[in-house]
Amino acid sequence: MAEFIMESCGVNEKGDLTIAGVDTVALAKEYGTPLMVFDENKIRSVCRVYKKALEENFGEGSIPCFASKALSFKGIYRIIAEEGLGSDAVSAGEIYTAKAAGFDISKMVFHGNNKTDADIRYAMELGIGRFVVDGAEELEAVNAIAAELGIKQKIQLRITPGIDPHTHKAIVTGSVDSKFGNAIKTGQAEKITRLALAKENIELMGFHCHIGSQIFEIDPFVEAAEVMIAFIADIKNKTGFEAKELNLGGGFGVRYVKEHPSFDYAGAIATLAEKMKASAKRCGIVLPRIMLEPGRSLVADAGLTLYTVGSVKEIPDLKNYVSVDGGMADNPRYALYQSQYEIHVANKAGEKEDYVCSVAGRCCESGDLIAENIKICKPERGDILAVLVTGAYNYSMASNYNRLTRPPIVMIKDGKPYLAIKRETFEDLTRNEI
Ligand code: LLP
Repeated sequence: MAEFIMESCGVNEKGDLTIAGVDTVALAKEYGTPLMVFDENKIRSVCRVYKKALEENFGEGSIPCFASKALSFKGIYRIIAEEGLGSDAVSAGEIYTAKAAGFDISKMVFHGNNKTDADIRYAMELGIGRFVVDGAEELEAVNAIAAELGIKQKIQLRITPGIDPHTHKAIVTGSVDSKFGNAIKTGQAEKITRLALAKENIELMGFHCHIGSQIFEIDPFVEAAEVMIAFIADIKNKTGFEAKELNLGGGFGVRYVKEHPSFDYAGAIATLAEKMKASAKRCGIVLPRIMLEPGRSLVADAGLTLYTVGSVKEIPDLKNYVSVDGGMADNPRYALYQSQYEIHVANKAGEKEDYVCSVAGRCCESGDLIAENIKICKPERGDILAVLVTGAYNYSMASNYNRLTRPPIVMIKDGKPYLAIKRETFEDLTRNEI
């Protein structure tokens, strides 16, 4: 019996790959390819793991806020609302999408290192829960717009704890030279805290940090949390202000391939709680309300992408290319981060996988690859290829490069597939063109 990196996957009696018990080859036939398919029950179960672990270890009011940059569309905001999660947003577009889905915007935190005045006003008018203020100019702008609207806006301040975890350099965010936040080491964190405390129309709730993404060790998270607690204590001693909230961002790693370790989210939260409680005690502060912002770990391994194989090109003694009808336009992650994927021929699942090849997309670009030198069962034109663990940062990073249309999303709930996003059409491509 074949073992798949996604626990939602299996093989049926026809030898086809299944997700949540549904035949992926039949889905490809019905909805066309490229196609993104999600196991909704899996997303919900991970939401519950996070929610329960935070409540049990840090008490009520400590909540996970889904980092919706990982997967933003109306349906996902409905799911996380039903599961009682908050959300993080990084643009007015994400806030608009959440609002359109009926999401409670007061449960949203608004991120970004360069929010425009228009973004700030839009979010405030909709009643955004928190701004995570990134710098002094933004602080001024939030204060001024809040004054105009006659409100006191709740904020957290983005702090750079100076932690450098082991992950791809493009997704590290907590080191002092980061474009995000205010470093403790340089004194800028204290400075912006004092500025925020002096603003009429701002209510400082606490602090935020995010050290990076796709991190498998717990130590950097513990280290960052301890640095933040020491900072909160230092600010309390110097100004009398005691933070009510500490938001530790996201970043827990996901297994894309069998070589990756697994990450126990509930266990990590319990470890964090234990260390943070001790640290708060040592520093003489009350542990604030804790927020986390998991993105990837909530959705990545609930989703896969189906493609149709077009050509199989064999260059003697050099390389074999299997080309599919999608590529970097729907999944730019190999091109950007050399991300690894587990790939199977969906209509030959469970058959011997000993054909070494690179999977190429259809874009007019040599770097348009999904994987290099992987082993799959030898495919032929018309076969369905399934790329596993594509639930995070795939649909949300998809583009129309080469005027490819973005794929649809099919969700499977309780064994029943439903269309959540339609395939883009050629008309969509020229919609705004005059
Ligand atoms: N909170 C903040 C402030 C963030 O910047 C991020 C991710 C998260 C939470 C969620 O992190 P996660 O739990 O998903 O690791 N496009 C890249 C990932 C970029 C992550 C950006 N920030 C990729 O495809 O790997």
